[in-house]
Amino acid sequence: MSLYSIILAAGEGKRMKSSIAKPLQQAAGKALVEWVADTAKEAGSDENIVVIGHKAEDIKAYLGGSVKYAYQLQQLGTGHAVMQGMEQLGGAQGTVMVLYGDSPLIEAETLKKVKAEHDENGRAATVITAHVDDPYGYGRIVREDGKIARIVEQKDATDAEKQINEVNSGMYFFDIEKLRSALGRLNNDNAQGEYYITDVIEIMLSDGESVGAFVTDFEQILGVNDKLQLAQVGKILNRRKVEELMLGGVTVIDPDKIHVTTNVKVGRDTVLYPGTILEGDTVIGENCVIGSDTSLNNCKVGDNTHILKSVAIDSEIGANTNVGPFAYIRPGSKVGSSVKIGDFVEIKNSTIDDDTKVAHLTYIGDADVGKRVNFGCGTVVVNYDGEHKHRTTIEDDCFIGCNTNLVSPVVVRHGAYTAAGSTITDEVPAESLAIARSKQVVKEQWTINRKKDK
Ligand code: UD1
Ligand code: CA
Repeated sequence: MSLYSIILAAGEGKRMKSSIAKPLQQAAGKALVEWVADTAKEAGSDENIVVIGHKAEDIKAYLGGSVKYAYQLQQLGTGHAVMQGMEQLGGAQGTVMVLYGDSPLIEAETLKKVKAEHDENGRAATVITAHVDDPYGYGRIVREDGKIARIVEQKDATDAEKQINEVNSGMYFFDIEKLRSALGRLNNDNAQGEYYITDVIEIMLSDGESVGAFVTDFEQILGVNDKLQLAQVGKILNRRKVEELMLGGVTVIDPDKIHVTTNVKVGRDTVLYPGTILEGDTVIGENCVIGSDTSLNNCKVGDNTHILKSVAIDSEIGANTNVGPFAYIRPGSKVGSSVKIGDFVEIKNSTIDDDTKVAHLTYIGDADVGKRVNFGCGTVVVNYDGEHKHRTTIEDDCFIGCNTNLVSPVVVRHGAYTAAGSTITDEVPAESLAIARSKQVVKEQWTINRKKDK
């Protein structure tokens, strides 16, 4: 039997006060609606249908061909939104789950359990509910003899019903055929003049169908309406990710003080210090020490590497390498193994091969650096002439003296030295020393003579 999902994401999301569509707001590395679509897939959905209206084209551009779309041009209520989604299902049979594009915390494991219960009992509908101290704004689950009888919206509830603290998550499993039949009989005869999906529960019960409620924890049904809730949900998603890492053997000094997005992978016994931010497709090996205060975005890091108070983006860093404090590794860099990248070093679009040391105050841009090269303090690769960037090559076993300028394009052949303070503009042959600075001139007694002249 096929399982489908209809994800409601047509609403305006006014309270976000944002120019970005609400379903596309980012939390812990994914858009809200992407979390929901991915969770639905993980729970076994064969096809996701996203109902779009406000900023529909933005949502389509983001999710692309990974889901199907249904348009809801006017937001006439959740029931109306589901009707649009159902049209995309054509004559399909099976089960459909209804989810919200702004409620990303529902877990695939929970959905699988709901599905199992729904199937076992041959139900027309299973509503996911939760208990909460302050149910204001939620639809209330009205039970009779312990069984769900109907869902009543805040605005339609009697004072007695407002006291109920079991609330509707807005997420459901439905038998497709029975949902189709009930939707055909929905009206908008209520306080908001909307087609409520919640009304199908009563319709189904009056048809003598079986309807049930699955109670989950409130955290899983949290939705995002404003930036406060966006942060709240992002924090929970982050906590789940950090817990997953810790259970996988990663040592985290203070779980509340690091931020790790969903696709990141970290090896065993790597220690993550506070202030660490790991984003994108970052993959870190085993036994590394990352942080404190380190940001890695789309980086690959080998085993036993230490990165302290540094930033790296779209780059690779090998094993047994030390980076930082205060290094900046910019996109397109490939740093080898047993390398030292020290304080105030910037590397851009360059390769630094194994056992090379760039200890301090150095800029290496658009360069290919060999093995066992030593950079003196204050080296600058002069890669930009004001119009074009040029590449520099430094072969194995070179020694670049302190405060050397390497005016690109230039090549330093293997084993060569540059004298401190040199501005290198021409190729340095292998095993040679290049001195490119003016000779020292000493004027003896100069200060004494100057005083006499006054
Ligand atoms: C809805 C439920 C309520 C439940 C609550 C949980 C109904 C009538 N009420 O109320 O029982 O407790 O969710 O959060 O279903 N949407 C559309 N098109 C529409 C209307 C809504 O796509 O025409 C989408 C919204 O973008 C949003 C979701 O559906 O993602 C919920 O809509 P919202 O208006 O916030 O419903 P609530 O009034 O909160
Ligand atoms: Ca809502």
